[in-house]
Amino acid sequence: MAKVAPRPAKLAPKPARAKPAMLAGTERALQIEYAIRDVVVPAKALEAQGHTVLKLNVGDPSAAGFRPPAHMIEALHKAALDNVNGYTASEGDPLLIDAIIRREKRRNKVAYAPGDVNVTNGSGEGIQMLFGSSVNPGDEVLIPGPSYPPYDSLVKFFGGKPVHYRTIESEDWQPDVEDLRRKISKKTKAVCLINPNNPTGALYSRRVVKQFADVVGEHSKQLFMVSDEIYDQMTFDGVQVASKTVAPDVPMVTLNGFSKIYLVPGWRLGHMLWNDPTGSLEQIRLGVTKSSRVRLSVSSIAQRAGVAALDGPQDHIATTNAALKKRRDFAVKRLNEIEGISTAKPDGAFYAFPKLDCLATKGGKKAWKGDKEFVLDFLNTEKVLCVHGSGFGAQYGSGHMRVVLLPDTPILGTAFDRLERFIRARGATA
Ligand SMILES: Cc1ncc(COP(=O)(O)O)c(C=O)c1O
Repeated sequence: MAKVAPRPAKLAPKPARAKPAMLAGTERALQIEYAIRDVVVPAKALEAQGHTVLKLNVGDPSAAGFRPPAHMIEALHKAALDNVNGYTASEGDPLLIDAIIRREKRRNKVAYAPGDVNVTNGSGEGIQMLFGSSVNPGDEVLIPGPSYPPYDSLVKFFGGKPVHYRTIESEDWQPDVEDLRRKISKKTKAVCLINPNNPTGALYSRRVVKQFADVVGEHSKQLFMVSDEIYDQMTFDGVQVASKTVAPDVPMVTLNGFSKIYLVPGWRLGHMLWNDPTGSLEQIRLGVTKSSRVRLSVSSIAQRAGVAALDGPQDHIATTNAALKKRRDFAVKRLNEIEGISTAKPDGAFYAFPKLDCLATKGGKKAWKGDKEFVLDFLNTEKVLCVHGSGFGAQYGSGHMRVVLLPDTPILGTAFDRLERFIRARGATA
């Protein structure tokens, strides 16, 4: 006869578990802001309610339908089939390093040795590793105002102080070299140039880059120059000048990558180039190399595709730029037609940074407290997502918004029609 299992005694209710105390996070991480992705949270909430949001916030060419050339994809595939699936040297696959050196010789007529190149997981990792090994607590880093947000966040993360030099809106956002000169102090460790710049799309002439680098050169015993050239071949009317070509004597780290020109931001491939005429960057370079060792390596197959990208046909660059120029021309004209909006003309990258004249309405009554409220109200009302200008540095970015010009003109046209309707509806055109 089967045994009858004893009935379990009635369990006493479990005592409520005390909620564990929250462990402290770090101030340095919690202060990180990245406006470009922060605005995605309210956009996602709208999407969850069933709305379609027109996104002009992220500088990702593939999201707008741009595709890398087939030979890059084939090289990536072939590398995987050929079992190039292991870790590579932390500094980068020697084949890619050689291809980068060849490209620098070809495009910029400058020479680098293999030891002058570090391959990175996107140039974003380059910024991080560079500041991680150069910025000590209290050091100041000069950054263009406005500029790409990680410059600010990462300097702060490592205990440094970002100091913004002015770029001049009425001169299509050219750097104010005198302001730069005034702001260099005994604590300045690095001076950053982003050419073309994000978010303004400003392209700097050879003369301006030279003036800029000359100011840095006057202080080269205590500081170095960071030249972010990730949009170098993405220009419409002029040609970008690599900083090293006009200032070979200035200690400099050039940052570049494949996300923009080669249309593969998701492959996470970038590189940094060291120009160290006096050896002043040796410790910093060693710090970067050590940092690269603890993250082991960059994607092996992406690096092989990077070789194919640099050595193979470059036709897609002209095609992409022709498409972007059309969008730039359309956007500048249309934005400037909207009452309450005015924009300078970007000559590179794929952004416009219009001024929200409509924030300063007549009669003392403001429709919005600032650019962030404007952008969020525009999102909620018209379901178009842009990024508030203050997210690129409050001092020089406030009162603006960044618009990504990657989508084709009909989409941009819809976004700008909605912008016009939105401003009119708020009576904020004056
Ligand atoms: C000026 C600038 N530098 C660096 C990056 C980072 O690019 P990635 O990490 O994809 O190479 C970006 C991306 O938008 C950028 O605009």
